[in-house]
Amino acid sequence: MTKRFGDFVAVNGVSVEIRQGEFFSLLGPSGCGKTTMLRMIAGFEDATEGRLLLEGREVGGVPPYRRHVNTVFQNYALFPHLSVRENVAFGPRIAGLPSAEIETRVSRMLEVVRLREMAERRPHQLSGGQRQRVALARALINAPVALLLDEPLSALDLELRRAMQLELKRIQREVGITFVFVTHDQEEALTMSDRIAVMRGGRIEQVGGPEEIYERPRTAFVARFIGIANLLPVRVVAVAGGSATLEVGDSRTLAVGLDGFEPKVGEMAALMVRPERLRLCLGPTMPLPGDELALRATVRGIVFQGPVLRCSLEVEAGRSLVAHAPAVDRDPRLDVGTKVELRFPRAAARLLPADPTLPAD
Ligand SMILES: Nc1ncnc2c1ncn2[C@@H]1O[C@H](COP(=O)(O)OP(=O)(O)OP(=O)(O)O)[C@@H](O)[C@H]1O
Ligand SMILES: [Mg+2]
Repeated sequence: MTKRFGDFVAVNGVSVEIRQGEFFSLLGPSGCGKTTMLRMIAGFEDATEGRLLLEGREVGGVPPYRRHVNTVFQNYALFPHLSVRENVAFGPRIAGLPSAEIETRVSRMLEVVRLREMAERRPHQLSGGQRQRVALARALINAPVALLLDEPLSALDLELRRAMQLELKRIQREVGITFVFVTHDQEEALTMSDRIAVMRGGRIEQVGGPEEIYERPRTAFVARFIGIANLLPVRVVAVAGGSATLEVGDSRTLAVGLDGFEPKVGEMAALMVRPERLRLCLGPTMPLPGDELALRATVRGIVFQGPVLRCSLEVEAGRSLVAHAPAVDRDPRLDVGTKVELRFPRAAARLLPADPTLPAD
């Protein structure tokens, strides 16, 4: 699908398949087109080009209320004068279901969102998280094919948001309904999703499970957006047999396996390593095993962060990296100015296309 507003392309040729019963997240920075995607699925916007199929049926031109989807917005407006029970019963009442059926469904929903004891309260007598659960129950009771959620937790404070993340995931598993969840919070997406689509500038850069996206990002943007990523500029000096030899700084070369990206000899690329995969070796070191890589570096800064020490390191040619060293049993020799050898598994290093549009760290 493509969506243009005048000359502006908000969604740019996105093609994606969301599976039945999965928790699917659209993740990306502000303005990348997440809400526009959701509004097209809901039917509040029509695609300028392309097709949308729900359960295999094309739904272009079908109005929102005739699509079997429900949306939960960030400002989940509940009816203030109605009790929790009446709020939840609203959809089925409008649909004209028999009252016995409504009764059964409401009880089940209040059970699912754990608000049975609060059924007779009004929204103003509830906490933010409880109100959010009423909004969910009110949408889920209509048994939609998919529930669309646009940053539904962003109004909640951090602690409550974390609790609601787990709660939402539990509810989704319990009811088995497809959730399409919009967020710009990577931690939120990692916590809840079966699969994540990382968006940037109206396009999807990568779709995959949380571990896949984190461990095997396909672009520098995805690597940076999910977690912390070191992106070391390297020159490709040889490519053969599924691996590439890279020049790092002015003396060393490293060989890494290729996965999806076929670099050209002579071009610049980015070598990605996560901070927790870098091991700092001080003093005389053991010979380097064949499945490991090493770089020489100087410690430029150490910040205590609880479980880890965040170490800034300068490798040759003035390039910098971040390593997370365990904070317990800290080596007394580890200090600013210490020369170290950085070791990391060859498998933890990924070669990605250079991206000049990304800011350097
Ligand atoms: N009705 C509209 N008319 C013109 N431009 C629009 C319209 N709706 C959205 N846009 C533009 O399309 C782009 C994508 O908007 P969208 O709301 O989908 O972003 P988003 O990813 O949801 O961002 P956020 O995280 O800030 O909510 C933005 O640049 C926005 O300004
Ligand atoms: Mg939005």
